[in-house]
Amino acid sequence: MASALKNLRAPLTRGAFMVMGSQGTNSFRTGGAPRLIRQFGGKGVAMQQSNTALYVGIAAVGAGGAYLLWSQGGGGKVDYQKVYDAIAKILEEDPNYDDGSYGPVFVRLAWHASGTYDKASGTGGSSKGTMRFEPEAKHGANAGLHIAREKLEKVKNQFPGISYGDLWTLAGVVAVQEMGGPIVPWKPGRVDGTHSECPPDGRLPDGANPSPQHPRDVFYRMGFNDQEITALIGAHTLGRCHTDRSGFDGPWTFSPTAFSNSFYVELLTKKWVDRSWSGPKQFADKETGQLMMLPADMVFAKDSEFRQWSELYAKDEKKYFEDFAKAYQKLLELGVAFKEGTTEYRFKPTSA
Ligand code: HEM
Repeated sequence: MASALKNLRAPLTRGAFMVMGSQGTNSFRTGGAPRLIRQFGGKGVAMQQSNTALYVGIAAVGAGGAYLLWSQGGGGKVDYQKVYDAIAKILEEDPNYDDGSYGPVFVRLAWHASGTYDKASGTGGSSKGTMRFEPEAKHGANAGLHIAREKLEKVKNQFPGISYGDLWTLAGVVAVQEMGGPIVPWKPGRVDGTHSECPPDGRLPDGANPSPQHPRDVFYRMGFNDQEITALIGAHTLGRCHTDRSGFDGPWTFSPTAFSNSFYVELLTKKWVDRSWSGPKQFADKETGQLMMLPADMVFAKDSEFRQWSELYAKDEKKYFEDFAKAYQKLLELGVAFKEGTTEYRFKPTSA
């Protein structure tokens, strides 16, 4: 089993990813940076941003390189650009971890910390950083996220003034941007809560559920619509499933550490068949058998409302990046009571 898994991973290591591009051609490319240049290179990024936003880094680096942009966080003064840089630094510090990056598991941590929000009761969400407590940390859907939380503890020790909710959501932003995704505006203001504020179990989606009603039940509860749900699921372009976490196995794309619209391209262009194995029902691509889809992913091809958005994002990556950034920012901010006048940061990717 171990060696079979290793073989499966062999072509997926960082440095040379085989990618099905939107045109359907096979090509090789390296990690996030080249995409970053193509999508959001140089001045293009800064010019797209609104005047009110603070583009930390570019705006603040003075002649001597000395800059300090302080803002009030969840319990002290924190230089968020420095936190951003510290998170970026640890993303790839262990080349043997998965596909060479903690980015995907940071994105999953940010999403699971936020995706418990219930708009009717105003409970859940990232605002209290409650996943550090036993009830929530032990929820089945959060299996494996201790890896991300422990990794980020190092950054928390460096910047004790940041709250856990701010740290985890910021890590989700760093991961998306550093893997070549869009700039995601981010605001601080989450304040650590107590263990009694943990949301109940069962609010996060179940990968085994094949009904299109399931993501609707879960995401409508948070206040999302079908377009936003479809934009968010595209994050499955990143990372992989682990048998010792969810029970599922394998990556969705051949570029699991590069943010792109590949999830939709693979979903709509590959032929998906039942994987014959001893684990839970999942789909494998007929051509190579190396990629996977969850039963819950397949609804984004089967349900006509979801599918029209998947088709749009498969052919228009720029539109996908724009819509993902908006929906992801909304996700990370669910239920957070920001103070009036809170700065909205647009962090500069370290490779830009
Ligand atoms: C219907 C909705 C969703 C379902 C059923 C679902 C299910 C899953 C499952 C079963 C895994 C595998 C976990 C593991 O074994 O390590 C996973 C991983 C992942 N999910 Fe989702 N997910 C959903 C939505 C989302 C959203 C909205 C995001 C982010 C915006 C997201 C981001 C990720 C990432 C990045 C990974 C890879 C983690 C890693 O490589 O460690 N997912 N998801």
